[in-house]
Amino acid sequence: MFEHVDAYPGDPILTLNENFQKDPRQEKINLSIGIYFDDDGRLPVMKAVREAEAAMLADLGPKPYLPMAGLAPYRDAVQALVFGEASAARREDRIATVQTLGGSGALKIGADFLKRYFPQAQVWVSDPTWENHRFIFERAGFSVNTYPYYDDATGGLKFDAMLAAIDALPPRSIVVLHACCHNPTGVDLSEAQWEQLIPVLQKRELLPFVDMAYQGFGSSLDEDAFAVRELARRDVPMLVANSFSKNFSLYGERCGALSVLCADAAEAQRVVGQLTSAVRSNYSNPPTHGAKIVTKVLTSPALNQMWRDELAAMCRRIAGMRVAIHERLSRHIGGQALSRYIEQRGMFTYTGLDADQVDRLREQHGVYILRSGRMCVAGLNERNVGPVADAISKVLVKPA
Ligand code: LMR
Repeated sequence: MFEHVDAYPGDPILTLNENFQKDPRQEKINLSIGIYFDDDGRLPVMKAVREAEAAMLADLGPKPYLPMAGLAPYRDAVQALVFGEASAARREDRIATVQTLGGSGALKIGADFLKRYFPQAQVWVSDPTWENHRFIFERAGFSVNTYPYYDDATGGLKFDAMLAAIDALPPRSIVVLHACCHNPTGVDLSEAQWEQLIPVLQKRELLPFVDMAYQGFGSSLDEDAFAVRELARRDVPMLVANSFSKNFSLYGERCGALSVLCADAAEAQRVVGQLTSAVRSNYSNPPTHGAKIVTKVLTSPALNQMWRDELAAMCRRIAGMRVAIHERLSRHIGGQALSRYIEQRGMFTYTGLDADQVDRLREQHGVYILRSGRMCVAGLNERNVGPVADAISKVLVKPA
């Protein structure tokens, strides 16, 4: 019956992470998956999360299904965090939000919704982008194309080429944009560049689908939401996927949301209904536990502040590790283009290493980064940064 089923070649990120777990070497270092580890190399449980969970444990009750669209106070808290407390669209009930299974779930629900209502549209993603963007949109039935983004030569952004390509897209094309901490390159648009891009999206009647999986890891929760809030302020219809995997360190709880900015409250009602229908036909309704944690933290002023402080500290630690790796690498290989390690933002840096160098890094030194050259700098710490820099400098030397 299943003879025709071919072998799954694996996922470039998740399978590599699984292979890392199986690697018996003591000195192995995981800089592959986008996960924040603390300075002891451990996955943190945030204090605000622990406190919220402790309070929930003291008040355990029955576990009914959540509504298909998710926990109502969670959806409301998401809107405040993503669009800002003062958002006019939020006040006017123009945002349709559903709770989703992490950011990936939000992309999938959004893709299914778009395929139904924009069946002729094509999807445009940055070159490069997070590998799963392509998989999700293709599985939903879309053709996926790329627009220029990363400039290998400078380690920065090809902004003019990006703008020109987007300015040539047919109306109602779906443009996937990263709000902050671009995955995989760590290269973001400046606020001035967003101000240039947004009128082009408007003029060409394009539909932005903003992925904000790393809010709080670039500059701050509010600054990282600049693109979303600016699009909303200018009333550009859009979809926004957000995730609490990283900024709450709640990876396995699969906590995220999809929000759609609509023209008015009646439209938002209809859109939320169709998003709900996509949830029903995919998995009926989302899980409870993580959403309750996030809601408790976001809606209790003391826990909210505690969480913001912890997140800011995580962000500072990453910035410190960027400086540390830059400094160590400069000692070994000064003169090469290393400024990208400090200039790129968020969890990732595009190292510029090629697939062969990445393979040697893993095989000979036990250092895991993606074959695209993406390194998760949030996995660096005081102890491993030296060995990582040593290993990189060794693989940069061409094998004899
Ligand atoms: C990553 O890019 O490493 C993370 O977002 C994890 C994932 O699901 O790919």
